[in-house]
Amino acid sequence: MHPYPAYVEKATGTRLQDADGNELLDLIFNATSLIHGHVHPAVTEAIRDQAGRSTAVLAPNAAQIALAEQMCSRVASLQRLRFTNSGTEATMMMVKTARAFTGRDLVLKMDGAYHGTFDGMELNAATPGSAQAVPYTGGVPANLGDNVIIGRFNDTAGVTALIERYADRLAAVIVTPMASVATWIPPEPGFLEGLRAATTQRDVLLLFDEVIAFRVALGGAQQRYGVTPDLTAYGKVIGGGLPVGAYGGRADVMAVTDPAGGPRVAHAGTFNGNPVTAAAGLATLRLLDADAYARLEQLGERFAAALRAAFTDLALPLGVRQVGSLVSVAVTDRTPALWDEVNATMRLALLNRGVCGWGVFALPTVFDEAEIDEAVSAIHDALREPAAALAGLEVPVG
Ligand SMILES: Cc1ncc(COP(=O)(O)O)c(C=O)c1O
Repeated sequence: MHPYPAYVEKATGTRLQDADGNELLDLIFNATSLIHGHVHPAVTEAIRDQAGRSTAVLAPNAAQIALAEQMCSRVASLQRLRFTNSGTEATMMMVKTARAFTGRDLVLKMDGAYHGTFDGMELNAATPGSAQAVPYTGGVPANLGDNVIIGRFNDTAGVTALIERYADRLAAVIVTPMASVATWIPPEPGFLEGLRAATTQRDVLLLFDEVIAFRVALGGAQQRYGVTPDLTAYGKVIGGGLPVGAYGGRADVMAVTDPAGGPRVAHAGTFNGNPVTAAAGLATLRLLDADAYARLEQLGERFAAALRAAFTDLALPLGVRQVGSLVSVAVTDRTPALWDEVNATMRLALLNRGVCGWGVFALPTVFDEAEIDEAVSAIHDALREPAAALAGLEVPVG
């Protein structure tokens, strides 16, 4: 949020209102979690209704069962499901469950992938291309890297070779089926299929982190890309704007968390399966039908096309990536190295033009065509001078 964030007092539909009374068009919707925009009437009504009945109970509750049934009806691989309070907890528990089921410690993650804020996955390659895992943030013990190896997203041959080499010690491969490191990166044809084949062959579990990627199709990324993992982690949209996470998948694997037989994985959490969150999530998913997905796809395509046209008009060699309602700006091999400096100023430049969010965008169902024009016009205006300066400098490409 450098150099400073907008302090938000109110948010409705597609607009934020900051503490100074400025109205901002939102382009990221709480890090992709509000797929129907802010304070959608049906979601707010569901929250209000459930809050009048119970806000937290130390017991299974009807709301959580209804949300679980809704999710399982969309995702064929979800034979069992457990709720958490965040995507972080969901991926953390998913990895723990995989380790307990297989009795192995090693997990393969992709370089640069973010799976939440917990020690066990805050690791990246020691050097580019290396499989050795080292912490990417302070406070993580270096020896946690002994339990993780690093592969590269979309490098089917490289990751398959690592699975082969470490198979005897490997519990699982964890992957975001559509990578989200600074820009959305779709999987190349064959990558997810390759992971599925190599893991199945060596009895290694395949874990999908769909905390963001679930929103790309009615049945999530696994439906869109046609590859079925053993376990999947969720968050963001399934909570309708309240804190949430969930993970689940194969019944035999999830059985290690079943308290009935004396669980091999203990999963406690005061607010797990919170009924208010579940009610908001259920209202959100009920609105997410085939028509809503068609609309999201249409909005994403139109926004991506408008951005491409703006970059062409400005003679800026930038790419645009789009997966459904997720759109992002990407550098190409023709982008000048000095672009990084312009990029760093864009967030503030757009705030000054009434738009919140830059680089990665997540459009909600309530967005409209006029708002796409409004957003792209602000982006075009913010880039006009820097684009002219970059062109005038005739810098070598970086
Ligand atoms: C792919 C992915 N996994 C996990 C998380 C963590 O989710 P949460 O912020 O709800 O803890 C995020 C959050 O952005 C994410 O993008």
